[in-house]
Amino acid sequence: MSDTAFFSNWNYPTAMRVGAGRIAELPQLCRELGMGTPLLVTDPGLAALPIVQAIVERCLVDGIPLAVFSDIKGNPTGENVTDGVVAFRAHGCDGVIALGGGSAVDAGKAIALMVGQTHPIWEFEDVGDNYLKVNTRGMAPVIAVPTTAGTGSEVGRSSVITDQSAKLKKIIFHPRMLPQIVLLDPELTVGLPAPITAATGMDALSHNLEAFCSNSYHPMAEGIALEAMRLIHEYLPRAVANGNDLEARMQMLAASSMGATAFQRGLGAMHALAHPLGAVYDKHHGLLNAILMPYVLVANRSAIEEPMRRLSNYLGLSETGFDGVLDWVLFLRREFGIPNTLVEIGIGEDAAGEIARMAIADPSALGNPLSLSVDDYGDIFLNACRGDH
Ligand SMILES: [Fe+2]
Repeated sequence: MSDTAFFSNWNYPTAMRVGAGRIAELPQLCRELGMGTPLLVTDPGLAALPIVQAIVERCLVDGIPLAVFSDIKGNPTGENVTDGVVAFRAHGCDGVIALGGGSAVDAGKAIALMVGQTHPIWEFEDVGDNYLKVNTRGMAPVIAVPTTAGTGSEVGRSSVITDQSAKLKKIIFHPRMLPQIVLLDPELTVGLPAPITAATGMDALSHNLEAFCSNSYHPMAEGIALEAMRLIHEYLPRAVANGNDLEARMQMLAASSMGATAFQRGLGAMHALAHPLGAVYDKHHGLLNAILMPYVLVANRSAIEEPMRRLSNYLGLSETGFDGVLDWVLFLRREFGIPNTLVEIGIGEDAAGEIARMAIADPSALGNPLSLSVDDYGDIFLNACRGDH
């Protein structure tokens, strides 16, 4: 792959600067958005790495001093956001660079929202027309720089923030939470260990798969999801097998952004279950989706035979139809060493009732192609504990 093979500027769904090494353009991008003193929001693991030090130094040399805020959890909390707002004000910041995996990007977007609000963050949960309460003039501009390929949060209009007192993951939404500029640089993802590459990649697959199976009318999102799954089919095994494969890393970043673009069409039962399980057990979101994926597909089978036939044909799977897709998903999980059951990651059957009630109340449940009952969610959960699919 030549250095500039993937260089391009995209403006859908937002402005995207794509290509290896383009992190060097960060100071210029700050200036484009009028940022003189951005708050760099990242996670504690990344903050300690030379890659972040290098970004801070490069920006400083280029006349853009960055304040770094990294006190965020793997599942960022309302408190993390409040602390970030305090840091933003203390350093006199005028914008946010959200650099990292989904946690850092979600936290950064939420901080940029909350620096201009007087209401508590939970009043902006994605329910009804809550977003109309947002004072948009107070929102700070955001540059999003993903270092994992999975959540696609960089092109999303919401952040998933954990309300610790309620033990709930809440979706905080405003259309203008979509970052003004996204920088997709595959060199930033080469250091990601194989298990994280696999789990985040399976999250990207779950976004595209759930969006593709949704019943709502959105052919643009449907087309994006289909092509993203072709990229995942071809490149995720390569990215997991060899983290330095820049082409595979680039294509997975694209597939991840495409997933979050596509899920404007809706998500489904994988996410409806993964959200409460993440909030209650603090497990990796992508891993939860990867474990749940075949059980949810089987539960939805009667409603998704036709889209699965189209998907299997597009991917060129040896077996066409639902069974071909199911076999592909199971193959990926085996290949990546992802457990077959929730029990293997320490989640037991006892919580079935509680998790099922939380799942049906999760906004993602609305996108599921079948209208599932609390009992249906309980059955999927128990199947995922027992390994029945
Ligand atoms: Fe997800």
